Amino acid sequence: MPCRSSDELNTLVAKAKKCAKSGKVADYIPALGKANQDDLSIAIHYPDGRCISAGCIEKRFTLQSISKVICLALVLIDRGSNYVFEHVGMEPTGDPFNSIAKLETMSPSKPLNPMINAGALVVTHLIKGNSVEERFQRLLSFIHELTNDSTINYCEEVARSEFETAHLNRALCYFLKQHNIIEEDVEQLMELYTKQCAIQMNVLDLARIGLVFALDGVDPLSGKQIMPPDVARICKTFMVTCGMYNASGEFAIKIGIPSKSGVSGGIMGAVPGKFGIGIFGPSLDEKGNSIAGIKLLELLSKNYKLSMF
Ligand code: DON
Repeated sequence: MPCRSSDELNTLVAKAKKCAKSGKVADYIPALGKANQDDLSIAIHYPDGRCISAGCIEKRFTLQSISKVICLALVLIDRGSNYVFEHVGMEPTGDPFNSIAKLETMSPSKPLNPMINAGALVVTHLIKGNSVEERFQRLLSFIHELTNDSTINYCEEVARSEFETAHLNRALCYFLKQHNIIEEDVEQLMELYTKQCAIQMNVLDLARIGLVFALDGVDPLSGKQIMPPDVARICKTFMVTCGMYNASGEFAIKIGIPSKSGVSGGIMGAVPGKFGIGIFGPSLDEKGNSIAGIKLLELLSKNYKLSMF
């Protein structure tokens, strides 16, 4: 077991927080630019229900790219892995998360993996339902089940802010539509995707979702199998190979915990069989990952030998 107490975690947070100054809050989605660069919080959720935490743990933040791995789990449950991987690949890209480059050079131009924006847009496209509202509610209900919290919703301001400025994501969608990878109306898909990215929660909720992945899809409280073990396994594998974008290799070597980041500064970690981690630190490094969050995970992993490798 890592940190026995929140006091130990507080010490690590104070240490990691120092590097927040050398990063930058994301502002390409204007509403995210309002975040406080110095924030850093963490929660660790254990299978027996215990939770230790440090920092401003009640503060809510939007999931952004962390939603990609949750959405992937839902779509894998709904459609099965064979169907999903006919539409999106399994390979890391080594490119920034919003890159269009490989779509042009690959044939067929199926996105390389579900964690880059192009692949995530395909996965969101595959959410079942008859309207944006119905599809969004299905994703939200899945998140309610994972967190055991039915009050979780999305932040309208952040969703609108991204919807109004997501020109590059629209370009990715049009490219995918031209190549028959997606079929739906681009504005409709952008509405669903921006709402998905704007789903907000705190680090305690995020750690609980991480724990469900860590426990191969089992709810820690009820023992219910929320997702098949194989779906949890696929998601954790993507978290290792592409969860931290084009920093995933270095992250795997230095930290070795299946993790997924988002540009709001969230990181969800799943230590297989042991516990879930939720982190929020909005100051980002040049690749779009929480700079203090990564430092904190590095300290945790080294101090408590958490690498799975
Ligand atoms: O599509 C976008 O640009 C955002 N909604 C999500 C990107 C993101 O979180 C990338 N993370 N590091």
